[in-house]
Amino acid sequence: MVTIDKKVVLVTGGGRGIGRAIALAFAAQGNPVAVTGRTQSSLDQVADEIRRLGADAVAFACDVTRRQEVEALKAEIEGALGTAQILVNSAGMAPAAAFLDMEDQLWEEVFKVNLTGTYYGCKVFLPGMIACGWGRIINIASTVAKVAYSHITAYAASKHAVLGLTRALAIEMARKRVTVNAICPGYVDTEMTRSNAKAMAEKTGKSVDQILDIFKKTSPQGRLIDPKEVGDLALMLASNAAGGITGQAINVDGGAVMV
Ligand SMILES: NC(=O)c1ccc[n+]([C@@H]2O[C@H](COP(=O)([O-])OP(=O)(O)OC[C@H]3O[C@@H](n4cnc5c(N)ncnc54)[C@H](OP(=O)(O)O)[C@@H]3O)[C@@H](O)[C@H]2O)c1
Repeated sequence: MVTIDKKVVLVTGGGRGIGRAIALAFAAQGNPVAVTGRTQSSLDQVADEIRRLGADAVAFACDVTRRQEVEALKAEIEGALGTAQILVNSAGMAPAAAFLDMEDQLWEEVFKVNLTGTYYGCKVFLPGMIACGWGRIINIASTVAKVAYSHITAYAASKHAVLGLTRALAIEMARKRVTVNAICPGYVDTEMTRSNAKAMAEKTGKSVDQILDIFKKTSPQGRLIDPKEVGDLALMLASNAAGGITGQAINVDGGAVMV
């Protein structure tokens, strides 16, 4: 297990799935953690779990596509926990659609959440990290930030863009003791994967379990990734030991993608 200094952590999309697992991983190390997302009830549940682990928590609802709400989130965290020096941008969406059938609105929404939401997080929370002289930004991208599959043009394009943002910002922050990295998971055992499997099952006449098996077989390890595995990698990237790792995009996918 990696140990890290106690810093205030913000996890967007922290109410469930990968974000929740990351929030709990940091809380288990004693870090104060703020979780955000649009659904207050799920944030409150995660905040209770964080407190049961002995860490302070803030559960503040915010839509990451709205800059004013992200600014309000910052003020809330500063008042309750202090300056957030570790930011994990995990909020995201991954709807599938055939390119020619895809509504413009879907394209715009996917970019707003996956890219602009990540951009607002970085923009609003970076100044505090720079002022403290130490910071970590961890963007949850996807293996689809490096390779692509059919029927996810908006998702693939938005996640490729998240890598571009990560890499360019990493260079800009390189002399400020703020690292900026991306984690690129393959299929993770979360609501997002299950709802995509359900949608594919409805389209193909296969069962959800059959589709999940197809997802598993894309990985040489033949399994879905546990969200906790992403949490553990986030901890590693936030540690002082990872101070020299920046601008990287690290896959957690059982060996499915090797670029
Ligand atoms: N699951 C996978 O296989 C997989 C693989 C690679 C990458 N990823 C990436 O990992 C991240 C987390 O995925 P997941 O599997 O944990 O998905 P998930 O279970 O669907 O959770 C997504 C989270 O994002 C939040 N969210 C969505 N839109 C938001 C918005 N506008 N403002 C604030 N929060 C918002 C959701 O909360 P509310 O709905 O309450 O707002 C939810 O907490 C995403 O960026 C995803 O693209 C996932």
